[in-house]
Amino acid sequence: MPEMVVTNDDLSKIMDTSDEWISSRTGIRERRLAREETTASMSVTAAKRALENAGITAQEIDLIIVGTITGDYVTPSTACEVQAALGADKAVAFDINAACSGFMFALHIADAYIKTGVYKTALILGAETLSKIMDWNDRSTCVLFGDGAGAAVVRSDETGLLAYDQGSDGARGTVLTCRSRENNNPFVKNPTEPSYTHMDGQEVYKFAVTTVPASIKKVVGEAGLTIEDIDCFALHQANIRIIQSVAKRLKAPEEKFPTSLDHCGNVSAASVPILLDEINRKGILKPGMKIVLSGFGGGLTWGSAVLEW
Ligand code: UT7
Repeated sequence: MPEMVVTNDDLSKIMDTSDEWISSRTGIRERRLAREETTASMSVTAAKRALENAGITAQEIDLIIVGTITGDYVTPSTACEVQAALGADKAVAFDINAACSGFMFALHIADAYIKTGVYKTALILGAETLSKIMDWNDRSTCVLFGDGAGAAVVRSDETGLLAYDQGSDGARGTVLTCRSRENNNPFVKNPTEPSYTHMDGQEVYKFAVTTVPASIKKVVGEAGLTIEDIDCFALHQANIRIIQSVAKRLKAPEEKFPTSLDHCGNVSAASVPILLDEINRKGILKPGMKIVLSGFGGGLTWGSAVLEW
C-alpha cells in the first residue's frame, strides 16, 4: 500500500464530511492514497513479496494477470510492466477489467490455464490507484476508496481451489461507472459527463447483499461442503454493513469474516489479496482450513471461490 495515510478526520478538513458519518456507514477509518506510487510500482512490490513468500524465482512464472481498472497506461498493461520489472521473461502477461472482482477473475483464469496444462505457475494480482478516478468533489464516493496492490502465486497442486462461481450482469452496469478518457478526435463531440467514478451506492449495496450470499452458498455446495465447514470468509472490503449482512444471511458467525477496510478503505481488485495476505501473515490461516474468497462490484461482476489452505 502507499505510504500516505489519510484519516476520516483528514478528509473532514477538506470536504463536508465527518469521521462519524464515514465510520458508522462503512466501517472505514483511514485509507492509503498514492502520491509517488503508481499502480505498477505497488504491483511490483506486491509481486516480489509474493514470489519470496512462495519461494520461487521470476523465471518460473508462466503467466501474469493483473486485475485492475486503474492501470497507469492504456498500453502497455500493468501485467507487462510487472513482467519487465521482475525480469519474468518467460511469462505471458495481460490485465483484466472486472473492477472489484478483478483478483477473483484472475484466479479463475489462472486455474483454468493450470488445469488444462497450458501453464504451471501463475502470478495473479489485484492493483488499484482509485484515487485518480475519484471525483474529489463528490463526498459520497471519494471517502470510500483507497489505493493498494496484492499478489499471489498460483501453482498446480493436489489441494487448493475446490470450487469456483462467477457471474456478470452488464444490464445493471450503470449503477457503478467510470467513463473513459476524453476523446481528442476533432470529428467527434465528447460526452459532457467527466471521467470520474459515479456510484448509486444503495443499488450496489442491494446487489451485494443478495448476490454475494447466493454465490457463496452455491460455491460451498459445489465444493461438497456446508457453510458450517468454512473456517474463514475473506470478502471484498466495501462496507462493514455488507459483510455483516452477508454473515447474517449465511447464518455464519461474524468472527469468521476478517476485515481490513478500517485501515484500507475499498481497494477494489486489491482488497481480497491484501486481506488474504494480512490474515496469512497474522497466522490466522492454518493448513487444511476451508476458506471462501469473494469479490463483487462494477460491471456488475462477482466471483467466489472455496480454497483448502
Ligand atoms: O466496491 C464496489 C462496491 N461498492 C459498494 O459496495 C458500495 C455499496 N454502498 C454503500 O456502501 C452505501 O450505499 C454508501 C456507504 C455508499 C452510502 O450509504 P447510504 O446509507 O446508502 O447513504 P446515502 O447515499 O443514502 O446518503 C445518506 C446521506 C445523504 O444526505 P441526505 O440526502 O440524507 O441529506 C448524503 O448526502 O448522507 C449524505 N452523505 C454524506 N454525509 C457526510 C453522502 N456522503 C457523505 C459523506 N459525509 N461522505
